[in-house]
Amino acid sequence: MSDASRPIAILGGTGPAGMGLALRWARAGETIVLGSRDAHRAEQAAKNIKTRAGNQARVSGMENSAACATADLLVLTVPFEGQAALLKQLKPAIRPGSILIDATVALAAAVGGRASRTLGVWQGSSAQQAEELVPKGVSVAAAFHNLSAELLNGDETLDCDVIVCSDDPQASQLTRALAARIPGVRAIDGGKLENARALEQITALLIGLNIRHKGHAGIRITGLPSEAYR
Ligand SMILES: NC(=O)c1ccc[n+]([C@@H]2O[C@H](COP(=O)([O-])OP(=O)(O)OC[C@H]3O[C@@H](n4cnc5c(N)ncnc54)[C@H](OP(=O)(O)O)[C@@H]3O)[C@@H](O)[C@H]2O)c1
Repeated sequence: MSDASRPIAILGGTGPAGMGLALRWARAGETIVLGSRDAHRAEQAAKNIKTRAGNQARVSGMENSAACATADLLVLTVPFEGQAALLKQLKPAIRPGSILIDATVALAAAVGGRASRTLGVWQGSSAQQAEELVPKGVSVAAAFHNLSAELLNGDETLDCDVIVCSDDPQASQLTRALAARIPGVRAIDGGKLENARALEQITALLIGLNIRHKGHAGIRITGLPSEAYR
């Protein structure tokens, strides 16, 4: 179970991925703090979500470090090229014992390449890079890589599974609970954080499929016992 009064800070939350998650969670009654490099932009984004989710929605916006300091449940939705620098900047603001959910995909677009290709990350994946950069005692979970932001920002029920990878079973469980708050999403325990590498590769494939077929592809995992799906 997720605790809806426990704020979720979405860092880099003004882009399509962060806004889409914020919208769905705000509609589900979660408390959201949107982060941005610019406090005004975050406030505007929060206003936008409130307009769509309803006035009772609990959404605020502030600069990334301030947003980070309000919560121990953090979601990172920035492009790969900004991930390391932002985490270094946020390090002093990250509370001990926090959980960081990383959705970053190391797309080759970060260095002028194709969005349908990924970059090699020395640590294995963006999430493993994040784990190296957060303070000791902070758990990292990788999730939401394969959800279309375009669909998240719409009103329809999604048709997609979210695979969650983490070395901390509690962080994984909490992330899966949050994923399952999004209508149409089933959450699946994807094992260790090192498996995030595969999640990022799938995103690149989905982007390629979207370009080829002009759609908003997602994934469904079949054949597991029902208790594997949340
Ligand atoms: N879009 C999707 O469908 C999707 C789906 C799954 C996963 N993802 C992954 O989720 C992440 C975010 O995706 P997105 O499409 O929302 O990305 P985005 O629009 O390019 O960026 C999201 C936000 O990050 C901030 N940002 C941009 N460059 C930054 C930098 N160099 N340093 C710090 N902050 C920076 C910006 O916020 P401010 O200017 O307000 O600070 C921006 O609004 C990416 O890693 C992406 O691969 C995306």
